[in-house]
Amino acid sequence: MRGPQLSIHLIGLPGSGKSTVGRHLARRLGLPFIDSDHVIEQRIGGSIRGFFDREGEAAFRDLEEEVILELTEANVPPQVLATGGGVVIRPGNRTRLRERGTVVYLNASPEEIFRHIRHDQTRPLLQVGSPLDRLRELQRERDPLYREAAHFVISPERGKNVAALVQHIAMQ
Ligand code: S3P
Repeated sequence: MRGPQLSIHLIGLPGSGKSTVGRHLARRLGLPFIDSDHVIEQRIGGSIRGFFDREGEAAFRDLEEEVILELTEANVPPQVLATGGGVVIRPGNRTRLRERGTVVYLNASPEEIFRHIRHDQTRPLLQVGSPLDRLRELQRERDPLYREAAHFVISPERGKNVAALVQHIAMQ
């Protein structure tokens, strides 16, 4: 299968499968896979969770926006980019991701996500209160933003959707 001309930008709630689907897609399309959270962690030399605790969310969003700008520069060859769940909060990121690639929203339900990440301690926004309630709240807040940025919305729950997505993108 020939790779697409454009990068693929994956967006969605924490735990929606952006990294898993992204790796799978990248392999199928023969494109590099990049996870913007990993790039941020390399840059700060530590975990995002630690950075959140020390510097606060606004500092993290500034850094995230800077990294997204770099990863979507015109001279960056096509890639599959998995983004952090809150990337759409900044309007500049929504526009940039949409202009510089095919944006795919992995629309997993909070209940499905909760089943997968119950024991995960690395996601700072899910550490306070009930993670399931928090996921529902994040979905209410962010779903319109994900939809605004997205060219495609898919439910990542079943493997066949990944295959369908790859097929869909290959036909662009
Ligand atoms: C965040 C999601 C995280 C990470 C940071 C903030 C969010 O990425 O960027 O902890 O605001 O939803 P994942 O979506 O990969 O967990």
